[in-house]
Amino acid sequence: MKEVIEYIDSNKGKYIEELKEFLRIPSISTLPENNKDMQRAAQFVADKLKDAGLNRVEIFQTEGHPLVYGEWLGSPGKPTVLIYGHYDVQPVDPIELWSSPPFEPTIVGDNIFARGATDDKGQVYMHIKSVESFFKTKGSLPLNVKFIIEGEEEIGSNNLSIFIKNNVELLKSDAVLISDTALFAPGVPTITYGLRGLCYMEVEVTGPSRDLHSGTFGGGVPNPINVLAKMISQLVDKEGRIKIDGFYDDVLKLSKKERENFKALKFSEKQWAKEIGLKHLTGEKGYTTLERIWARPTLDCNGILGGFTGQGAKTVIPSKATAKISMRLVPHQDPNKIEKLFTKYIKKIAPKEVSVKVTSLHGGYPVITPLEDKATIAGAKAMQLAFGKKTVFMREGGSIPIVVEFANRLKASPVLMGLGLNTENLHSPNEHFNLNHFQLGIKSSAYFMDEYSMNASPQKK
Ligand code: BES
Ligand code: MN
Ligand code: MN
Repeated sequence: MKEVIEYIDSNKGKYIEELKEFLRIPSISTLPENNKDMQRAAQFVADKLKDAGLNRVEIFQTEGHPLVYGEWLGSPGKPTVLIYGHYDVQPVDPIELWSSPPFEPTIVGDNIFARGATDDKGQVYMHIKSVESFFKTKGSLPLNVKFIIEGEEEIGSNNLSIFIKNNVELLKSDAVLISDTALFAPGVPTITYGLRGLCYMEVEVTGPSRDLHSGTFGGGVPNPINVLAKMISQLVDKEGRIKIDGFYDDVLKLSKKERENFKALKFSEKQWAKEIGLKHLTGEKGYTTLERIWARPTLDCNGILGGFTGQGAKTVIPSKATAKISMRLVPHQDPNKIEKLFTKYIKKIAPKEVSVKVTSLHGGYPVITPLEDKATIAGAKAMQLAFGKKTVFMREGGSIPIVVEFANRLKASPVLMGLGLNTENLHSPNEHFNLNHFQLGIKSSAYFMDEYSMNASPQKK
């Protein structure tokens, strides 16, 4: 591995320049005006996969944004790793809070600032460069590699989901390597073995058929905002427990061992609070912060719409009010079942003087991967070799809904080898990625291929 690692080191500057080019493409998946940029970003990924040495690269158009596929299957008898990531990024607003323009990558100290730097372009690029480093030094890879890089992760991965269903043979692999999560702390090699799931709902409350004068009518009619607020306040109790009937039925309990493992991680609740501008933390009674964010389900209101929100005052009773409510789920909760339980509970607590509509916006299953899986072991060893330190294991509060489909449909073991940091402002202004971690990620990816090729054998057909 010496030559491969040396090659990665001697190309550091070049790789960063290429990454900048990738980051200049404003591939915002949710905005129709960026559709051309989505094509450009897909083309960029495809070109770089070809340059890296893969021998079959294809862009698959979908009903939405294109998927980029690449493969090199020149190691018969060796396992196959599928590398997944996304080239789409979140919108940039509020733009006035960015210190440098979001699509003009800017290096300050060890960090590169741009939308998508850590989520997920920088992390996707690590794997492309690790493949290249092997081909440039050895002329081959130690195992078989497939890439699937999508452009719809931030909007629910609908077309990738369909693609997986229809292309099980094409994507068939033994492990799925994903870098779209975070390190536990800077410089600490980390494997994430759990992700939360998601159930995202919208509740619309309608009172009077039109907006009303709040003096003429106020007191004699239901106010949808007041009603909605009261309903929201009945979703979580004083101790932080969700009151929806049956909500906890399928929750996997934290084992004693896992609680001990979490406690052994160097984590300061105080510092964590300070970093986000808080003096006091809150959450479900009886659990630590790490337990709350990694292993317990939650319910949060993400936005409320309704009434007059302009400057100054307008005396009005609105006709409608809407809330966007998300629930982060843990194994073995099922987002479809939770959606039904939520709807039933909302209908139960809705007063008869208003009408209430409940819709589901999107969802995703939670994930937990066994620590004794060969792919996980190879991932942990690979990071340890790259960082020169022992790898820690953590769970994650965020979601990557497609992971479960890889696991179930391809029977491939997911390995979450994220190199981001949760302080790198993903989805918010001044997103950045630590370039030392970028470099360590390229090496971790290379070591993974080497380790996994030695410790695993391909699945029986
Ligand atoms: N890369 C993130 C998931 C993530 C977030 C991992 C934080 C580690 C730390 C991913 O791109 C993402 O934003 N996921 C969404 C999923 C949703 C759009 C279905 C999320 O978690 O909100
Ligand atoms: Mn991501
Ligand atoms: Mn994201």
